[in-house]
Amino acid sequence: MQIHTKAVHAGDRKKAPAHIPSTTPIHTASSFFYESMEQLDRIFGQEEQGYCYARYDNPSSAALEELLTSLENGAGALTCASGMAALHMALLTALADRRKSIVAADALYGATVGLLMKVMEPAGVDVRFVNICDLDAVRAAVAESKPGCILMETISNPLLRVGEVDKLAEISREAGAALVVDNTFATPLLIRPLELGAHMSVHSVTKYLAGHGDVLGGAVITDSEHLDTLRSLSRTIGPVLGPFESYLTMRGVKTFPLRMERQCANACRVAQWLGEQPKVSRVYYTADPAHPDAATIRRLFPSNLFGAMVSFELKDAGRDEIFRFMDGLQMIVRATSLGDVHSMMLYPRMSSHREISPKHRERMGIRDNLVRLSVGIEAAEDIIADLDQAL
Ligand SMILES: Cc1ncc(COP(=O)(O)O)c(C=O)c1O
Repeated sequence: MQIHTKAVHAGDRKKAPAHIPSTTPIHTASSFFYESMEQLDRIFGQEEQGYCYARYDNPSSAALEELLTSLENGAGALTCASGMAALHMALLTALADRRKSIVAADALYGATVGLLMKVMEPAGVDVRFVNICDLDAVRAAVAESKPGCILMETISNPLLRVGEVDKLAEISREAGAALVVDNTFATPLLIRPLELGAHMSVHSVTKYLAGHGDVLGGAVITDSEHLDTLRSLSRTIGPVLGPFESYLTMRGVKTFPLRMERQCANACRVAQWLGEQPKVSRVYYTADPAHPDAATIRRLFPSNLFGAMVSFELKDAGRDEIFRFMDGLQMIVRATSLGDVHSMMLYPRMSSHREISPKHRERMGIRDNLVRLSVGIEAAEDIIADLDQAL
């Protein structure tokens, strides 16, 4: 062979070695080499395990999907390029063979509201918002709109409401609808929605699962009923997670339970301290005995871990005072994300719920003096000291 040909082919096409690497490698190939056309035909026909094309499947994301399936006790998973892509895939899957109608929690991440109103509604899907913590209201909405899907967050963003996933799963089953649960805030350490009867559990893996602020990714973990549709739609739409991000997420997940335990413990201390500050008028935290969903939380979160998000309102504050307070933070990062090893604070009015009209925000209970804190793994004393000096 000439040097130009050798440069392209030599060294490639090695069969996988007999040894098993101790961590899953980053498989960058977009296509794969086969011993024969017969073998390729079997792999395309899904009669033999293998990979044909990276939009269909990739060894790095397949390993992560197996890991996430195991954490959530599902039947299978799809990893996506972002949490929003994962939510979109879950909704499309839920509605594939059902009525094009969604009953959604009225407490949701702002972009999820956007997905419902800017993407699903214009595509002909009827969307109705309801207080997911009021089962009678949910039953009434379901009876009226006969949805194909019920959508909720296990711990809502940013006011931390917790719905009764098991009872909502029953309602959705009776109505022939799929229950899709965004489990990003709670993580499978606190609650595993599929074990409680939900059909799909969705994550922004950008957050606690990857955990280091260096990955954008999402995942849908599903029951067996929806797995084929989910994967088939994904092969056509192509929202998949790349191999580098899959690798980083797998690396992150290895320490996720340890990080999460620490973050939950820190959040408890921070929430308690915030509750004692005269400049703080209200604290939202899931371990608070006065939380409106305290009974549900104690029933559904058996691990005695309550999450690591704390939201709070500053007394008599508006946009200017919140800006001054957040500009005063020295260690806590002012950032539009959550779940990383470092503590982060966000102003929902300006970022996560910016696109939502002030009226809609008011209905959601998101006031202009509310901030949201994602508590990190630092020493709790240092987090509290930073809040203290900024206050
Ligand atoms: C609860 C929740 N779900 C989904 C998303 C979307 O995730 P991503 O930013 O990875 O698309 C976010 C992002 O903040 C979120 O907070």
